[in-house]
Formats: sequence, structure tokens, C-alpha cells
Amino acid sequence: MHTDKPFALITGVSGGIGGALVQGFHEAGYQIIATDLIPPVNVPNIDYFFQINLERLIENETEANEFYELIRSVLNGAGLKVLVNNAALQIIKPLSEMTVRDMMRTLNTNAAAPFFLIQHFLFELEMMQGSVINISSIHAKLTKPNFVAYATSKAALSGLTRAMAVELGSRIRINAIAPAAVATSMLKAGFENNPEGFSTLSKMHPVGRIGEPREVADLAVFLASEKAKFMNGGVYELDGGIGARLHDPV
Ligand SMILES: NC(=O)c1ccc[n+]([C@@H]2O[C@H](COP(=O)([O-])OP(=O)(O)OC[C@H]3O[C@@H](n4cnc5c(N)ncnc54)[C@H](O)[C@@H]3O)[C@@H](O)[C@H]2O)c1
Repeated sequence: MHTDKPFALITGVSGGIGGALVQGFHEAGYQIIATDLIPPVNVPNIDYFFQINLERLIENETEANEFYELIRSVLNGAGLKVLVNNAALQIIKPLSEMTVRDMMRTLNTNAAAPFFLIQHFLFELEMMQGSVINISSIHAKLTKPNFVAYATSKAALSGLTRAMAVELGSRIRINAIAPAAVATSMLKAGFENNPEGFSTLSKMHPVGRIGEPREVADLAVFLASEKAKFMNGGVYELDGGIGARLHDPV
């Protein structure tokens, strides 16, 4: 189907930002190969969906190779124009309660899986002069208590974005987006009984609000486009200015 359209492989499509990424790349004319741990609900315009636990790419070589071959069978000799590493695991706990398993699951899902997806699809990406968009986070640079595992994994994802861009040179482009708070349904549900908290969070951003999932998707589509051909190895902050704000009393 749609053999003339370029392929975009997007992970974590069942989440709030994942759904927006699917929509954004679909509207930009891509065929969407989507993955997640759980099946997507109300996410239209997915051309191919594969349910996969990305941790298995690190833990089990046979399953990993089966997954890579599955994706290659969809590509059927065509290249991959975009890989969006969007899936992530967030375990919020004090450092003292963090287990080895918690830490390894976080690093494997958020940093090692993107690393090996890029490594394994390098040929297909290079064929299309393609690019990778890693969805990092403001936590890669600015964080808060109980986020150590997540923040560490996102710093690793931002770091691998720079290091791979340098090592791979002109073969493919690799960029990352580092959003601050984004109004996914999960985030909004968390504030359902706390409108004051939501208002405070919004006001902390100099633009007076938090981000929208579609804004992440729009930047990702732009970074993947021909207009962004000189953008490489960058971690682009999408944060309404909160990263520029000094939280001293005014
Ligand atoms: N929502 C925000 O405020 C915000 C802010 C900054 C960065 N981000 C980043 O944006 C991306 C998307 O976040 P979101 O808010 O949509 O989160 P979400 O939790 O709604 O979506 C993440 C998706 O990843 C999937 N996933 C998790 N572990 C997986 C695994 N092992 N294998 C396969 N799939 C797995 C989940 O099932 C989920 O559908 C993440 O990388 C997140 O770190 C989000």
C-alpha cells in the first residue's frame, strides 16, 4: 500500500505524544510503522502496528532480531525516512527505594533501545538520507527530586544524539527534542482535582501555559524535513521558556 510514501517508524504510539506524532507524520505524507507495549486506542492513521516491549531488544537477542526482521519485512527493501524514539518509562521514586531492576528498565527503555534501533536501522535510514528524532526531556538538564532514573536516562538520550551525529557524519541526521511539561491526557488527569496546581505549573512557564502534544509532533516533522537539512546533533528545547527562568523570588 502507498508505495510512494516514505516510511516513519515511531515508538510509544499509545501515549499522548505518540498519538500526535502519528497524526503529524501522517499529515506530512508518511506511512506509519508504529510500536508500543500496549495497543493504541483512538489513534487513527497507523499503517502497521507491532506490539513490542522495547526492553526485550536489550534482554533477548533472538526476540530483538525477530523484531528487526519484522520491520524489514514491512519495508520490503524500501528505506526508512524517519525513526522517532518516543517511548519511555518513568519510574518516580526516591533514590533510596530505586532497585537495580527499576534503574536498568529505565535505562534500557529510554536510552539503550533507541541506541540499538538506530544501530540496526542505519542502513535503511542511510538509503533514504533519513533522520532520527529522539524525544528527550527537560529532565535531561533540569530536574526535580525523585526523578533520578528518568533524568539520567534522558541525559543519556541527549548525549547519544550528539555522539552519534558526530560519529555518523553525513550518513544520517540525528536530533532530539527536549520538551518541558506537555498536556497529555495523563498529565491533565493528574491535575483533575488540583486546578490550582495546574495553574501554578502553567504560570511557571514564561509563555503562561504548558506544551501541547501537537507542538512536539510539529517540531519532529520539521526536523525530519528537507528544510532542516543543516540541523544535526542538536537537542532542541521546547519548553515555553521555563528553562531560561531563574526561580528566585521576583
Ligand atoms: N508528557 C510530558 O510532559 C513529557 C515531557 C517531556 C518529555 N516527554 C517524553 O515524551 C515521550 C512521550 O511521552 P508521553 O507523555 O506521551 O508518555 P506516555 O507514558 O503517555 O507514553 C509513552 C509510551 O511509551 C510506551 N512504552 C513505555 N515503555 C515501553 C517499552 N518498554 N516498550 C514499548 N513501549 C513502551 C508506553 O506504553 C506509552 O504508550 C517520552 O519519551 C517522554 O519521556 C513527555
